[in-house]
Amino acid sequence: MRADIVIGMQWGDEGKGKVVDYLASMYSSVVRYNGGPNAGHTVIADGQSFTFHHIPSGALMRKKLFIAPGMLINPEIFREEIESLKKVVPEFSLKIDIRTSLITPAEVELDKKIEELKGAASIGTTLRGIGPAYSSKALRISPRVSDVLSGKFDASIYKKLYNIEFNFTEWMEEAKETLSNYAFDVREELLRSIENGESILFESAQGTLLDPIYGTYPYVTSSNTTASYAFVSSGIPFKYAGKIIGVLKAYTTRVGKGPMPTEMSENLANFIRESGKEYGATTGRPRRIGWLDLPALRYAKEINGVDELFITKLDVLSGLKELKVALSYSINGKEVERFPPPEDLELVQPVYQSLEPIPKLESGDFSHIVKNGWVSAPFQMKKYIDFIEKNLKTRVSYVSLGAEREMTVKVD
Ligand code: IMP
Ligand code: MG
Repeated sequence: MRADIVIGMQWGDEGKGKVVDYLASMYSSVVRYNGGPNAGHTVIADGQSFTFHHIPSGALMRKKLFIAPGMLINPEIFREEIESLKKVVPEFSLKIDIRTSLITPAEVELDKKIEELKGAASIGTTLRGIGPAYSSKALRISPRVSDVLSGKFDASIYKKLYNIEFNFTEWMEEAKETLSNYAFDVREELLRSIENGESILFESAQGTLLDPIYGTYPYVTSSNTTASYAFVSSGIPFKYAGKIIGVLKAYTTRVGKGPMPTEMSENLANFIRESGKEYGATTGRPRRIGWLDLPALRYAKEINGVDELFITKLDVLSGLKELKVALSYSINGKEVERFPPPEDLELVQPVYQSLEPIPKLESGDFSHIVKNGWVSAPFQMKKYIDFIEKNLKTRVSYVSLGAEREMTVKVD
């Protein structure tokens, strides 16, 4: 009777896919609850690599998989994802809530148009139609899974308003073919399984700082990325909330535009980008790189009520000549520890503390740490993790030292 939630504490790409795959063994079901195919969650296990866009990252662990209706589905992308997954996992249990809203070719087109019209002020979206599709849902004009199943959907206003040419009837038929085997009342099933004592893991997409309310608006995504949305989206009462697991990368990345106080010089960024393979899993765009940002993380901790931390990609920091962390910000000469409102965020100067750099380790050294436990990690690594733990006043449970599932070590 537990519904734990994995959320991202930065601007997405914290490694939630790997974390969810790793933790999935402790749960019976994994539920994705926000965003759509803008997400790219990569899992590397048993010599295979898979990037999920809609499907929960518990798929390789053969868990029961659910898509809650606060998500969006693009049926064409979903179909391709299913076909690729079948090659890796021939049989899986996946259920999509019938209330889930769909992304049509019109919204994909609109996303592009809006970005073009914004020009220099564009967001740098993934061009997956996310903003327009959540808008169509708010306007109450776009189809949901149940509409394509029944075939009864009046698209006249939709067509008139967007005036974007595509064969709607054909699109609806194809969507029906793709989705009908997976359409269920997910809310009801999840509630029953919780009542029967089963445990559930909610998987968020994107990160807290991309939340449309609490993120760096307008440079945000269009669905809520925080823990509370798991309940709004799934229809599960929040009294069933378990613990909140905050995922953070050992440094910061951001893809797309918008403020990023700890962004580092391109020389150093380049090194980390290459060693950490920091390119968008959905769009292939190079990610912007920065030092760890504690004011931003404290804010993310507060908003989500994070109970424990899962820190990823610590291995990437090994061998860097310097290691810095932003402890606070300075705004017009005044030091603040809090994450400021968006209008001040462009003005902040990070106040850094330098820590002892982590020595250069080879892949064998990381495997050695995983095998022999956290006690065997170099002291500089332990100090870095202790520093984060103390400053965020939150326990670190796991540290990831490589992309593969087994490269994870429990911190005691
Ligand atoms: P959208 O979600 O495609 O509308 O994009 C809005 C902003 O969120 C852009 O800055 C994107 O780069 C960013 N974004 C959306 N999804 C992800 C993700 O899964 N990881 C990282 N950034 C994302
Ligand atoms: Mg990603």
